[in-house]
Amino acid sequence: MCGIVGITTNGNAIEILFPTLQRLEYRGYDSAGVAVLADGNIKIVKKQGKISDLISEVAKSNFPRYAKVVIGHTRWATHGAPSDENAHPHSDCKSKIAVVHNGIIENYLELKRRLIPKHNFRSETDTEVIAHLIEENLELGSGDFESAFLNSVSQLEGAFAIAAITSYASGKIMCARRKAPLVIGMLNSGFVVSSDVPSLIPITDKIVPLEDGEIAIIEPNNFTIRKGEVLVKREAVSIALDVQKAEKGGYKYFMQKEIFEQPKVVEDTISAFLSQWDEIAFPPYKKIIVTACGTSYHAGLLGKLWLETIAKENVEVDYASELRYKDKDFSDSLVVAISQSGETADTLESVRIAKEGGAKLVAVVNILGSTLSREADIVLHTNAGPEIGVAATKTFISQLTVLFLLSLKLGGLRKDSHLVSELRRISEKIDKVLRKADSIESVAKEVAEFRNALYLGRWVSFPVSLEGALKLKEIAYIHAEAYPSGEMKHGPLALVSPEMVAVFVMPKDRVFKKNISNLKEVTARGGKAISVVTEGMDKEVEGSWRVLQTPETLEILTPFVTTPVLQLLAYYAADYLGYNIDQPRNLAKSVTVE
Ligand code: AGP
Ligand code: GLU
Repeated sequence: MCGIVGITTNGNAIEILFPTLQRLEYRGYDSAGVAVLADGNIKIVKKQGKISDLISEVAKSNFPRYAKVVIGHTRWATHGAPSDENAHPHSDCKSKIAVVHNGIIENYLELKRRLIPKHNFRSETDTEVIAHLIEENLELGSGDFESAFLNSVSQLEGAFAIAAITSYASGKIMCARRKAPLVIGMLNSGFVVSSDVPSLIPITDKIVPLEDGEIAIIEPNNFTIRKGEVLVKREAVSIALDVQKAEKGGYKYFMQKEIFEQPKVVEDTISAFLSQWDEIAFPPYKKIIVTACGTSYHAGLLGKLWLETIAKENVEVDYASELRYKDKDFSDSLVVAISQSGETADTLESVRIAKEGGAKLVAVVNILGSTLSREADIVLHTNAGPEIGVAATKTFISQLTVLFLLSLKLGGLRKDSHLVSELRRISEKIDKVLRKADSIESVAKEVAEFRNALYLGRWVSFPVSLEGALKLKEIAYIHAEAYPSGEMKHGPLALVSPEMVAVFVMPKDRVFKKNISNLKEVTARGGKAISVVTEGMDKEVEGSWRVLQTPETLEILTPFVTTPVLQLLAYYAADYLGYNIDQPRNLAKSVTVE
């Protein structure tokens, strides 16, 4: 889940090391560290806490200000608590090798048991075993570092991306990739290796992605990639992400900026999809299986509703972390995998199983060049630009846009149909919601006083409720549960009291009247209801504690206007409570462990 970076250059690698690490910080931020090769020695500085803590530690140390080869790491602990000792890089007994790692070495205990009689372990991590294993293989073998690295990687089980430097082979960074992301970026003078493409945007527009099972050796003037014994030839590809879009631009948090970017994101996503409308073609299939995790899963639930309602498709949706264990029959199926990052371990694993079972893979993905996009038969790009806030917002809206258009396409509608025209009008409606952010902010401050919240909605508003509750949990740390409103009376109603706030997502649609009855059930029992309704419907929701209004649109499109209300409600509640919104505790942007 962490971020790794390595730079080898004829210039000064230190200058780009820390800014690149900071751009990777969203991937993990419980500790960080750097290792440099200077004057033939490895020097490591590592620190529990954020990159800013590491930078202060480096300033106090004799870490060189100029170096040609460096590696860095920002950690999201899996083995061993966040601490200075467990932070990466990890080194061998003689401190001649430094290793950074993303992922989990599943056989580390077995390897550690074997190595421990001769090796001095200093951390509780699985990662440290890699450094000692290379050291061991170096001593047992011919003394050639590259062969020792290759041999060691072949003994590792699990998922990993690794970068290593050594005083035995100065100038070189050895890298390995297996089920965890790693890309090479081309610098004016030298190369950089990193866990993700967005972190490289300000320093290069040319990348060489690595595939699973590959080893790369990068040096200031060249790089080689190999898979087993075979040398791999791969051309660099251009990345078209905008550096401006990756900066905060006046907003207090990236999440706020990303919520306010949504009208533009929807427009961009529609344009991109429509520009390829005629070329998008699907192989024959009998059923559609949608799979994803977290917020992307909520988008998948809406995708199912739209595919069923508009395209009359037969659709199943499953959490990727569940689907992979189900022994499902994937033959003749179209698997639609949704992922912002394109690197979510559970999603990747479930689609690999599906593909082996005969499915064709459609990836709805935001990062082109990510693993999911490379493994897909058809890629539908969500075009939201880089999303830095850990809580997904604009990528969710762009996923909805793609899934809605996909439903139209599979439903045989034309791109000049009435539903496309209505969708094109949605971005100005989202803008209208955002212009009323002040009224949402004042309600959010009141929500911040509660410890428990219910989110209730029916039909298309149920997935929206799930997403609203997830946002409140993730960034404001308020316990929130979402239910279809009709399920209230089957149990959750017992929880209703003045201490419980209930957010009703009830735009004008086919289930509005039913929602009114559920609202009454809550208010009659002293529950405090916040009703999110379509403009002009406020009179109908008498008894609500607070009312928030959205512009009118087609009932099937209401998620586009109700979602931003719930995003802002969570955002302002978290901001009022003083939390670090872009980096919520215990979470990371890209979940590359299973
Ligand atoms: C959403 O706010 C969360 N960060 C999380 O649930 C996320 O949606 C999930 O981990 C899936 O990520 P992906 O879209 O990159 O696959
Ligand atoms: N398993 C390693 C650790 O706990 C790396 C975790 C990660 O990918 O962040 O240090």
